[in-house]
Amino acid sequence: MEKKASNFSGQLGFVLAAAGSAVGIGNLWRFPYLAAKDGGGLFLIVYLALVLTFGFTLLTSDIAIGRRTQESAIRAYAKINSKWKFLGILTFLVPVLIMTYYAVIGGWVTKYALIYVTGQAEAAAQDGYFMSFITSPVAPVVFALLFMAVTSLIVYNGVEGGIERVSKYMMPVLLVLVIFIAGYSLTLRRVDESGNLRTGLQGLLYYITPNFKGLTVGRFLQILLDAMSQLFFSLSVSMGIMITYGSYVKPEVDLNHAVNQIEVFDTGVALIAGAMIIPAVYVFTGTEGMSAGPSLMFVSLPKVFHAMGKAGVAVGLCFFVTTIFATLTSCVSVLESIVANCMEIFHTGRKKTVLNLTIIYLALSAVVALGYSLFYFELPLPNGSVGQLLDLMDYISNSVMMPFIALLSTILIGWVMTPDEIIDEMERGGRTFRRKKLYVVMIRYVTPVMMLVLFLTSTGIIK
Ligand code: PFF
Repeated sequence: MEKKASNFSGQLGFVLAAAGSAVGIGNLWRFPYLAAKDGGGLFLIVYLALVLTFGFTLLTSDIAIGRRTQESAIRAYAKINSKWKFLGILTFLVPVLIMTYYAVIGGWVTKYALIYVTGQAEAAAQDGYFMSFITSPVAPVVFALLFMAVTSLIVYNGVEGGIERVSKYMMPVLLVLVIFIAGYSLTLRRVDESGNLRTGLQGLLYYITPNFKGLTVGRFLQILLDAMSQLFFSLSVSMGIMITYGSYVKPEVDLNHAVNQIEVFDTGVALIAGAMIIPAVYVFTGTEGMSAGPSLMFVSLPKVFHAMGKAGVAVGLCFFVTTIFATLTSCVSVLESIVANCMEIFHTGRKKTVLNLTIIYLALSAVVALGYSLFYFELPLPNGSVGQLLDLMDYISNSVMMPFIALLSTILIGWVMTPDEIIDEMERGGRTFRRKKLYVVMIRYVTPVMMLVLFLTSTGIIK
């Protein structure tokens, strides 16, 4: 097997970089929001069951394909079977699309961290603050460009010197910060307007207790699908990112341990993020603030931080710094996978490839950042929501392409190339692939069916 020019230094470097990709706003915002919406502990149980089955299957497949082929998505799938190169191209297009808007969200997060440094916490808690920020034609663009530039700088410095180095520093700090804020959230107490005492512990119970009220088969299926699409997004699977990162893993690393550690890190941060956000929102705004969806992070939380008084400034700052770390390491992985594919296709060096892509994505990020002002439109999406430019990109990449790619790749692995090659890679160097039987059943039978259902529902083909 040919030796790659770039590699992670070892297992720890790889696991932290992959966890850096996996842990993002999905963990810090989307997971807590879905848990609050989908019956608390009920969602948690469903999600955990899916991580151990589907998450494990998809993550194992991506990483093993990467290390086995030593290529990124396009050439990796072509190498497996030349007729399946189209799947590599499709997979490559997911980060290409995600990259247009990820730095925009990173810019919003950076802006909010700055709010707490510059003493504007009160202003950020006012109604309409977030709206007036994103609809401004200048500020969101400036922050998006800044975020994009920092992302590019890290990728420019290479796999070990850039990505791994940043992840090794940011991921442990992130973990400490979420644990710290969650601990603080649990100690909160407040007497509300009607004289009832609300505590962080009650909020925690609301989060972890399974709520079966009004549960029907349809509702359960909805929860299952929510958990499923969250899982994809959260583990950064089926978008070629883990294939690229897998291609940088040295042969002596035990992929079995690595996959377990990435799963535990990603799911652990999501669970703690829930314990950090839900109790705080519960104490200060009750359960309504939680169902706010996307506005939870930028509208509800600033209000909660403001209500905490002086401590809220420090907690708000810690929270948004954590979110910057999470978003930056994810954004880096998106750019890296585009860079890696382009380097393989065009035979160009890293530096030149990064520079060219940076110019393109600075421009595209600016366009998407203007999607709430200059380029505003309202587009009804097949899933029933109404979206702007950013939502459209998100919808195409996450709701349409990812389940479709996962479906095709399970067919390719399960039936065309057969799982033997993956098993062989997992057992390389005499390692034990403990969940081998589970893997085979999942990849051949269960995952394809579930992906088809996910694809049909998230595209609105079946309701
Ligand atoms: N896994 C990241 C999260 O949970 O927020 C999101 C993500 C990262 C999605 C990278 C897509 C991606 F390419």
